[in-house]
Amino acid sequence: MKYFYLPFWFFKTRILGMKIPLVSVVFITNLCNLRCKHCCIYTQKNPITKNYEQVDEDLRYCYKQGARFVDFEGGEPTLWQDGDKNLNDLIALAKKIGFFSTTVTTNAQKDFSDCKADSIWVSMDGYGGYHDEVRGEGSFDKLVYHIEKANHPNLSVNMVVNKLNYTSVDEVMEFVKTNPKISKISINFHTPYEGTEQLVLDWEKRNKVIDKVISYKRKDYAIMNSVSGLKRMKDMNFKKYCWISNFVHFNGVKTSDCGGTTIGLCPQCGFCMAGEMNAVMSLKFDTLTAGLKLRL
Ligand SMILES: C[S@@+](CC[C@H](N)C(=O)[O-])C[C@H]1O[C@@H](n2cnc3c(N)ncnc32)[C@H](O)[C@@H]1O
Repeated sequence: MKYFYLPFWFFKTRILGMKIPLVSVVFITNLCNLRCKHCCIYTQKNPITKNYEQVDEDLRYCYKQGARFVDFEGGEPTLWQDGDKNLNDLIALAKKIGFFSTTVTTNAQKDFSDCKADSIWVSMDGYGGYHDEVRGEGSFDKLVYHIEKANHPNLSVNMVVNKLNYTSVDEVMEFVKTNPKISKISINFHTPYEGTEQLVLDWEKRNKVIDKVISYKRKDYAIMNSVSGLKRMKDMNFKKYCWISNFVHFNGVKTSDCGGTTIGLCPQCGFCMAGEMNAVMSLKFDTLTAGLKLRL
């Protein structure tokens, strides 16, 4: 089914110019067990955990819009609970509705070895002390332990590069390369949400990191970002197709992109998906194959 859906989706969006999301990012709780320096979600005053029925409604809405891949986001999604239901019930629900695959992003501070998501992204913001500097003392060791324990067949790490950790990129690349439990790495850059502006990497350093990541990629390190997508992130001067991912926020608000547009963050955006989406729509072969590998 998915092999038919994707060419149809591409035809309708690229050729007919329709804006149909393919991926939905559904925020399920803003509760978190970490206080990361680069994140502003845990600082939100009202703790919100959606109930099962709300998530059901969100998922059905996204599916109706056209999305077929869903990413459960938080806060810390593995903390989600509603009575006797846990995250696996949401994953099963998404599959029942018809989503082709589910993804969970986690800080790996608690055991997630029972997580049934098709793919798992663990946030790793540097090697050892660099990660702890951003995410808190002891968080790196817990992350390594839980990755090992989970032994998930499709587990990758995501690094958000900022002023505190950009010098750790080489160590992270080697760590990923030598850890058999990690399939690949995705690189993103700090996006200066309110209260976290001080962590943004200056443009020259950001571009040097991009060049470094491209050179690792050319040496066959398992990097999810495509070269075409990364190059676009150097100046952010490209047409945005961010509606490829729609978002359902904690408060139930639905946006047809991440919401960064509304608060004027696009020129400083660090989410490399933006570059990848443009490269997909520009039919860049390396990006298309990276995207297919990621999602299928
Ligand atoms: C908000 S967290 C929620 C999931 C989970 N608690 C975790 O830490 O992975 C999702 C992802 O957003 C990233 N993130 C948080 N703040 C960011 C920022 N200002 N710019 C770019 N990425 C950010 C995190 O590093 C993480 O990979």
